[in-house]
Amino acid sequence: MTLPHQQPIGIFDSGIGGLTVAAAINRLLPLESLVYFGDTAHLPYGDKSKELIADFSLQITRFLLEQKKCKAIVIACNTASAAAYEPLRDQYKGVIPVINVIDPMIEAVIADPEIQRLGIIATKTTVSSGVYQEKLTRRKPDLPFSAMATPLLASMIEEGFYDNSISQEVLKTYLSDPQLQGIDALVLACTHYPLIKKEIDQYYQGTVKLFDSAEVVAQKLAAILAKEQLLAQEASAANAFYVSDYTQAFEEATRIFFKSGVKLQKMTLQKGQ
Ligand code: DGL
Repeated sequence: MTLPHQQPIGIFDSGIGGLTVAAAINRLLPLESLVYFGDTAHLPYGDKSKELIADFSLQITRFLLEQKKCKAIVIACNTASAAAYEPLRDQYKGVIPVINVIDPMIEAVIADPEIQRLGIIATKTTVSSGVYQEKLTRRKPDLPFSAMATPLLASMIEEGFYDNSISQEVLKTYLSDPQLQGIDALVLACTHYPLIKKEIDQYYQGTVKLFDSAEVVAQKLAAILAKEQLLAQEASAANAFYVSDYTQAFEEATRIFFKSGVKLQKMTLQKGQ
């Protein structure tokens, strides 16, 4: 029987975005084995209702926990973190740690004394949930910020449109919006966006500090696993990658992040599974 600390870490997102978080976890905690689930059949999450996303997130968590015996769950998606973190945390309290991507990002932002005006870009559902706005206002009431939905970006990235003239045009249109003028820091509040971080940085010519969740979430996870005595002590099983619908973009992106040994498996989620 595999000891609890040698069990894998379950990570999920709607698609390839969460791979940015999974890759950071893999770098920081190389002994851990990861089971990644990309819910490509339901992508994009960003224009769906909170209720629907919470339902998908619960089905995925059950799969990761019951079938894959994961010791911790990382919701590597801002939209699912906004819609489903609280119900999942409450449901699995005392069973397994559930980590979201929003709280570590808020911690990183409020710990930075230099930010004068903050921009947040995210999916429609994340922005309309008001989770970032509420947490920031509560934790740092003096910090002016604006949160803007950039709904084309996740699908554009998922389709492999980055580092090209189309992505640059789309970004220019969003980032020149009056809501984002005068900012000196920008939160990339969607785990797909690190894939276009370089282009965003080029747009701002390095004048705006960019925050993405990958590293801070990996560090938060490491701290929680250490506290719960759940850190792997020796190399575990190989990483596994599941999707609810096969897409070539996913397979290609997975190989960019996890060079060798990527074998994509299809898993259809069942309601009430
Ligand atoms: N990567 C996700 C996020 O962090 C969602 C993208 C989408 O499916 O709309 O919000």
